[in-house]
Amino acid sequence: MNEAKFIWMDGKLVPWSEAKIHVLTHSLHYANAVFEGTRAYKTDRGLAIFRLNDHNKRLLKSAKMTVLNHNLSLEELNAAHIELLRANEFKSNVYIRPLIYLGYGVMGLAHTKAPVNAMIAAWEWGAYLGEEGLERGIRVKISSFARNSVKSQMGKAKASSNYLNSQMAHFEAHEAGYDEALLLDEDGFIAEGPGECFFMVRDGVIITPSNDNSLVSITQDTVIKLAADLGIEVRRERITRDEVYTADEAFFTGTAAEVTPIREVDARVIGSGKRGEITEKIQKAYFDVVYGRNPKYEHMLTFV
Ligand SMILES: Cc1ncc(COP(=O)(O)O)c(C=O)c1O
Repeated sequence: MNEAKFIWMDGKLVPWSEAKIHVLTHSLHYANAVFEGTRAYKTDRGLAIFRLNDHNKRLLKSAKMTVLNHNLSLEELNAAHIELLRANEFKSNVYIRPLIYLGYGVMGLAHTKAPVNAMIAAWEWGAYLGEEGLERGIRVKISSFARNSVKSQMGKAKASSNYLNSQMAHFEAHEAGYDEALLLDEDGFIAEGPGECFFMVRDGVIITPSNDNSLVSITQDTVIKLAADLGIEVRRERITRDEVYTADEAFFTGTAAEVTPIREVDARVIGSGKRGEITEKIQKAYFDVVYGRNPKYEHMLTFV
């Protein structure tokens, strides 16, 4: 773990090694906590947080969905992120993890009497699925786990409890020798990756599922905007696994995964078995935006 100097805890900057909580922290037992994964990039003009406001808006929506009654405003969250990044004096790209959780004080399932706490940590972090993955593409396995059903979980909340499903799917794929999993929904259509959205390319058209069974993803939204700029048609459609196997190109997107090409799914080579032409264009356009090289999207950056 790349330790940093400080972690923000309930309004205070605490030295990294002192940012501790009690073992009877409510969220540790019953998993009601919500979080974000946000990135900041070292641009030519200094460290800039990508789509900070959108990430914190989603964090607040997640907290509302799971009834975490905190008193944080969007403005306070944004300011706390900036304060934390300034204090830590990072030298390279950073991953930021805010978490709203239920603290110590009561036990039992009923959660509304537990104190609500918040923390923000940040550390220097590279490519989630590896630098090589970004260039060569990764190998993916369709999971034996279905994505959490919309009848029983709130997949629009970036809620900790949803990530047991992600974790088990990732573990299964990894143990089988793959880099990442791809989850179907309860009806057998492509839902999303454990921490990524799925895109495929067929006959020059980009296809990605609706958000019916996935997080409302910030990177997916960015990629759709960039595809329009590049004059590439994007369709939001249901995708079946056989369509994935025969796609010309495929890629994952996410704050952590950025734009990661997929070169193989369930031992079927996708397209030419390496990063596809359209994937490469989208990837380049995405990195141009996050590194502040595309003036059209400068409003998406918050300079620290
Ligand atoms: C389950 C899941 N789907 C999709 C994504 C991609 O979302 P975003 O692009 O907002 O990071 C993530 C990552 O946050 C995720 O955890």
